[in-house]
Amino acid sequence: MRLRFAGVRLCLPVVLLAAAMVASAQWAPNVTDDKAEQRVAWWREARFGMFLHWGVYALPGRGEWVQWDEQIPVGEYAKLADQFHPDKFDADAWAALAKAGGMKYMVLTARHHDGFALFDDPQSSFTAVKSAAHRDIVAEYVKAVRKAGLGVGLYYSPLDWRYPGFFFPGIYRENAEELRVQYDRQIAELGTHYGQLDILWFDGGGNEWLGFGGLENGEGGWHRRAKDKPYSGKFDWQDAKTVGHLRELQPGILVNDRTNAPADFRSREGDGALGGFENQQPWELCTTITEGAWGYQPKAKVKPLSQIIQLLAGAAGRDGNLLLNVGPQPDGQIPPEQAARVREIGQWLATYGESIYGTRGGPWLPGAYGASTHKDKIVYLHLFHARSGGKVTLPALPVRIVKAEVLGGAAVSVEQNARTDVFTLPAVAAEAFDVVVKIELAEPWITSAVVPSGDLARGK
Ligand code: GLC
Repeated sequence: MRLRFAGVRLCLPVVLLAAAMVASAQWAPNVTDDKAEQRVAWWREARFGMFLHWGVYALPGRGEWVQWDEQIPVGEYAKLADQFHPDKFDADAWAALAKAGGMKYMVLTARHHDGFALFDDPQSSFTAVKSAAHRDIVAEYVKAVRKAGLGVGLYYSPLDWRYPGFFFPGIYRENAEELRVQYDRQIAELGTHYGQLDILWFDGGGNEWLGFGGLENGEGGWHRRAKDKPYSGKFDWQDAKTVGHLRELQPGILVNDRTNAPADFRSREGDGALGGFENQQPWELCTTITEGAWGYQPKAKVKPLSQIIQLLAGAAGRDGNLLLNVGPQPDGQIPPEQAARVREIGQWLATYGESIYGTRGGPWLPGAYGASTHKDKIVYLHLFHARSGGKVTLPALPVRIVKAEVLGGAAVSVEQNARTDVFTLPAVAAEAFDVVVKIELAEPWITSAVVPSGDLARGK
């Protein structure tokens, strides 16, 4: 097949990605309104955000699932609210750290699966305002994040372990309906009382988890729901109504795909879910800065800088964002080891940020060499295993390369053949985990086109 590409004739393996090729198996469809692309543009450019999991589960320090994992009775767990004294919580300090880390938006758990709200809900007794803290954490957070010029995001879980109706929505219908009333009310409260919100990051919503994959009364009697099958009983979250109302209150808001309502972006979760290249639907990988849970664990090991940078570049090179989670301590401070790593990431971005922010994934698909990003006429190669004097051979781009250099360093020699582009590296540091090569093309690259990396990309 011959394609016209930026005035050049192509017979090379350049692929124009069609939406159908990359359809994903999530429950929620994508939004289709004519402002969708415009709404998500700032977020796509931002590429990197800070996630924060914080609530009364920080007190026992065994992760945000402690209540469920240890089957702590609801009444007993609720007593944690009386011990919640976050005397060192300083939202400005959180926002300053996110900025120092090069993050462009933040997402805080306004309410996790335990039902403890970090905001003011006059109709719930389980909130930060009614806890020993007597503070509206969400109000302080929103103000600080906005003031710092970062995107303001809130995480919210419609799932609430205090409601038996969540587990058996068919038989405890009234209770499940009460849970739905709470969800609708709390989303309206968040959408109304906290000024402009940029992201509502849902989790535990939709039909995927409803009933926790438990018993269902179907043909032939009670049976366990098959793995990966969503709940299909009579209860309905009425997400279209609640999320629709939120969109009326907050016309610019971005919503992820963990409800049944149309979403602006898709969520991938955990280092192992980095997945494939996808430049049709906006997406984000969320993961933790530590090994283990999302919520605070005092002994959690912080992941090495190299691993996080390769994830960030790997996500950008697949045309997605990275949302990196920290777990603040019960006193409200972000643990010093986590904060130190965030600052190191920021230092790396201070030098290499131009290869991440405002770029799109490709032209070369990710491969053994690492990943690539581009912006107009500039292509960045992120080489994860570069060696001094090593050669990187990639399928030829159908455009002339004007020059190449290690970003902020020495020149890279380029040999363009009919089938391959070969890059010979200068000396690089032995421990380099991402050598960024900046390549200038004679013409801007068209984002929707990609070139496979194939077996050529050995990155020796
Ligand atoms: C999972 C977990 C949760 C965490 C979330 C982040 O769904 O239930 O604890 O908040 O992932 O993506």
